[in-house]
Amino acid sequence: MEIRTVGVVGLGTMGAGIAEVFARGGLAVTAVEADPQALARGMAALASSLDRAVKRGKLTPAQSGEIAGRVTQAGKLADLAGADLVVEVVPEQLAIKRQVLTELDRACRPDAIFATNTSSLSVTTIAAGTAHPGRVIGMHFFNPAPVMRLVEVVTTVLTDPAAAGSVSGLAERLGKTPVQVSDRAGFVANALLLPYLNHAVRLLETGYATREDIDRAMTLGAGLPMGPLTLLDLIGLDTSLAVLEVLAREFGGTRYTPASLLRRLTDAGRLGRKSGAGFYAYPDGGQVPDEAGLAAGAPGAVTLLDPVAGADAASAGRAAALAGLLAGAGIEVSRDPAAGSGLVVVAIGAMGGVLDAVAEAEAGDRSADAVGIRLVNAELAEVVPSPLTSAVAMDKARALAVKAGLRTVTAPDRPGLLVGALLYPHLRDAAAMVADGYARPSDVDSAMTLGCGYPRGPIRMLDEAGLAQAAAILSAMHAAYGDPAFAPPPLLMACASAGLALAPRG
Ligand code: CAA
Repeated sequence: MEIRTVGVVGLGTMGAGIAEVFARGGLAVTAVEADPQALARGMAALASSLDRAVKRGKLTPAQSGEIAGRVTQAGKLADLAGADLVVEVVPEQLAIKRQVLTELDRACRPDAIFATNTSSLSVTTIAAGTAHPGRVIGMHFFNPAPVMRLVEVVTTVLTDPAAAGSVSGLAERLGKTPVQVSDRAGFVANALLLPYLNHAVRLLETGYATREDIDRAMTLGAGLPMGPLTLLDLIGLDTSLAVLEVLAREFGGTRYTPASLLRRLTDAGRLGRKSGAGFYAYPDGGQVPDEAGLAAGAPGAVTLLDPVAGADAASAGRAAALAGLLAGAGIEVSRDPAAGSGLVVVAIGAMGGVLDAVAEAEAGDRSADAVGIRLVNAELAEVVPSPLTSAVAMDKARALAVKAGLRTVTAPDRPGLLVGALLYPHLRDAAAMVADGYARPSDVDSAMTLGCGYPRGPIRMLDEAGLAQAAAILSAMHAAYGDPAFAPPPLLMACASAGLALAPRG
């Protein structure tokens, strides 16, 4: 069936965005919201999103008017009698969704398709309570719906393949990319995203790193469009908590058990952007402070050590790269720990090891002055104290990195430091999802690039980082924390030792 007329039930942030997507795609949309104030808020959100597109020159005022003209407001489900497809975007409570679908059974044509945008409930359970479970399907959009190109089309054991085909075809007509998946908690994207976001909250609440450093590590260090705490504020802490609770019930383990701080903030009503505050306060939230002023505190000369002097080519390469950057910024670099005084910089890799390097260089008397610096990429340095490093040395090391043209994050001297400690377990979860047969590498990568704006999918990131490096960091994290959630899955170990990639490159 070609879908031409649609209903959207529930006009919160996602509902309004989904209504806009359909209207932009040329479909006649009936937007139903029982609460008149919520209806007005949803229509205002839709109008302001269209205005933004006009201001950016993406739509002409006439096009914006046509799109808005395709959306009819309604207060009751009976107005959906003629709809080919109805998408429900009501609150994530099974009882509410079931009641809406029972009413839709009465209100709509018997051949209408019902889609749920649920991000956490079982589509099978929602479908099973309806008169035509074969025509109930998951159609999962991503926030902001007009921007993110992914639609997860979720089928159940009851789904009629023709309904899945119609919904996937519609998603394509709307300029989205459908990824068809079976009904499992979190589907692809949320099952990968939420444990990573949860891990970020746990690192914050245990004092592993600051809020700003956690976000900066993943934007500047991993190239993601938003830091995890900023993204939690966008998604909503209550929604994120609900998804994690479902994932924890289905999969168990520390990755999914919601971090206490996430629960506390939700209990406190700090739900993120929609409530005015979450991890950050809005409207200004999430702006990373400028570090440029720090450069003035940089020392004129430093001693530079390799992590394990001369042990491997990678470590020598790191030290040479750092020495080049420092020299380029006019800083005198000595490689002799016996000769100099003042700051000692250890050119560490992602495994850390500041004190080991100091001991190896027989420079133990300079431990308080020794700081690790890891060049993550051309933009970001991780600045890493050992337990013996003084606060003065830390300030000097950050100033030094800023003077050398880098931004910084402070990370503890633990396996993975900050970027790797957040990123590798996330990539590991993606490899595990492929290994257990739920999704293909290409589906995982499409889901995260198109649904969450990643520059490259996690499987590709793993292959590019090198599976041996990933396996080494994960194994070290597993050994350090004893958490099986960090253990590299057998598929990753096998491909790493065989020198193979996880995904074939075309
Ligand atoms: N509504 C409509 N359009 C919006 C928008 C919104 N709320 N926010 C941004 N845009 C548009 C802008 O108009 C702009 O459009 P053009 O390129 O056509 O001009 C474009 O998006 C980029 O916007 P900005 O330049 O203002 O901002 P940006 O470059 O920082 O990008 C972002 C903003 C697209 C949100 C980007 O930061 C991003 O991709 N973030 C990741 C978001 C993400 O992960 N979403 C998934 C969350 S998980 C989920 O939703 C599922 C669930 O069930 C929990």
